Amino acid sequence: MSTDRWTSNPRVADILGAYPDQRSAVMPLLYLAMAEYGYLSDTAIREVADLLGMKSAQVSSVATFYTMYKREKVGQYLVSVCTSVSCLLLEARDVLHAIEDETGVPAGETDADGQFSVEHVECIGACGGAPALQVNYELVEGVGAEKARELVRWLKEAQPATVNGDEMQALFGGQRSFEWGPAESTGAARPVPALGRFGTAGEPE
Ligand code: FES
Repeated sequence: MSTDRWTSNPRVADILGAYPDQRSAVMPLLYLAMAEYGYLSDTAIREVADLLGMKSAQVSSVATFYTMYKREKVGQYLVSVCTSVSCLLLEARDVLHAIEDETGVPAGETDADGQFSVEHVECIGACGGAPALQVNYELVEGVGAEKARELVRWLKEAQPATVNGDEMQALFGGQRSFEWGPAESTGAARPVPALGRFGTAGEPE
């Protein structure tokens, strides 16, 4: 999608129309920009600022506060391992090390091929299913070190275009926090949350 197309995406007008104060639209617009570029480049930050009549520094301060906004390119599969206390007590460090070892990517980095990024993150709200991790923000719970290795090998071999939390949970997960509800048929195609689910503006016509 070209830059012109993203800024003229009907979602932009929908989102702007949903907020009396345009600056309140900064977060959903950052998501749109990230979906466009795969990360929030300086250009993306500037474009969001221009749409909102804000300074780039103001938009950047939001983008850098929330870790799910990426300021650098990430791999096809972003593996986020929770290392907060509940997971830490259940060997989350071993899980992280297993993933680093199996991918060859140290936490905080991306491989040269752009296939994997690995990061450790704070609590992802699945403490009852610790240790927990996400692939492209799709949750998998009860994943020990060995299962984490299997998950990485599966990603390498199957190279799914879209990762689905329910599928990964069935293949590699263990104890879950609770029953999350109906199975989700759509997963995440890349490390940008599915756009269909965010915002208050609803789906464009
Ligand atoms: S501490 Fe890991 S999900 Fe909450």
